[in-house]
Amino acid sequence: MTDQAATARAHPNIAFIKYWGNRDEVLRLPANSSLSMNLGELHTTTTVQFDPSLAKDELSLKGKAAEPGQTARVSQFLDLVRQMAGSNTFARVESENNFPSGAGIASSSSAFAALALAASAAVGLTLDEQALSQLARRGSGSASRSVPGGFVEWRAADRDEDSYAFSIAPAEHWALTDCIAIVSEQHKSTGSTQGHSLAATSPLQAARVQGAEQRLELCRAAIMNKDFAAFAQVVELDCHLMHAVMMTSQPGLHYWLPASVAVMQAVRDWRSAGIPVCYTLDAGPNIHVLCPVEVADRVTRQLQEIDGVLRVLGSGPGGPARLVTQANRIE
Ligand code: PMV
Repeated sequence: MTDQAATARAHPNIAFIKYWGNRDEVLRLPANSSLSMNLGELHTTTTVQFDPSLAKDELSLKGKAAEPGQTARVSQFLDLVRQMAGSNTFARVESENNFPSGAGIASSSSAFAALALAASAAVGLTLDEQALSQLARRGSGSASRSVPGGFVEWRAADRDEDSYAFSIAPAEHWALTDCIAIVSEQHKSTGSTQGHSLAATSPLQAARVQGAEQRLELCRAAIMNKDFAAFAQVVELDCHLMHAVMMTSQPGLHYWLPASVAVMQAVRDWRSAGIPVCYTLDAGPNIHVLCPVEVADRVTRQLQEIDGVLRVLGSGPGGPARLVTQANRIE
């Protein structure tokens, strides 16, 4: 009997300095370095069981069989793990998020971080944080940042082995809150994998990439000094630069809805009135409104009053990806 199974849990992350565009699509080597925070309240839990009786990999999401495209992407990722371990056994993968999947939260970050940890542990590999981050990166770039805990930086590099993420400060360092204003429950029309491949068609991408290192340094310093004003300035600038690239690529990607713009305007007004608050958006219309925990209740209440805001999810910083259970038994 063979029992090669493991369960792992990882948090999604929100990028303050964005990853958009790859210098190598297959290896998912990013065009620029990025910086994010794990979202402690939200998580993906994934169980991987390698089973010699299977004729192919199987994937279920919240107990339901996944679509063929999703299964194929997971299977391709498992091929990398099998290659590392010298195995040819297929696996059963069960995954579940504790947050709504249509909420525009980058679930691929927690999904591939949890999958990388569960699959490598189940097959009997012991990977350190750096190797695990590198592996998770191959499934989804932002997943590399969900492996370490707290505030995390992912370095751009020319070689596979040099591009991984690491923690710059633990979750306890700064009680920032992400109040996620949901303005649409729809799945995004253009996923990020396709979006990354369009980035270079924008005449603005080169300028965005060129300044990314400097913005990252400003953002890192603002986090280390807990300087919210400096943080707000660089986070909004970086978000606008990414969306300018998206809008000016060919074809253009337009993710904002009228309610997204209404929230952006309100947040700028609140900041002018002295409330420490700022926003960022990923490849979707929902808005991540960031503020110190002290003002989070007030910000959440005010967000709920804006027309078009369906609900608000809140989260503080979260820890690293971790194993929940593991059993490697071959009898
Ligand atoms: O990891 P991906 O391929 O889903 O890309 C994530 C892209 C953004 O969420 C828009 C930005 C980021 O750095 O997370």
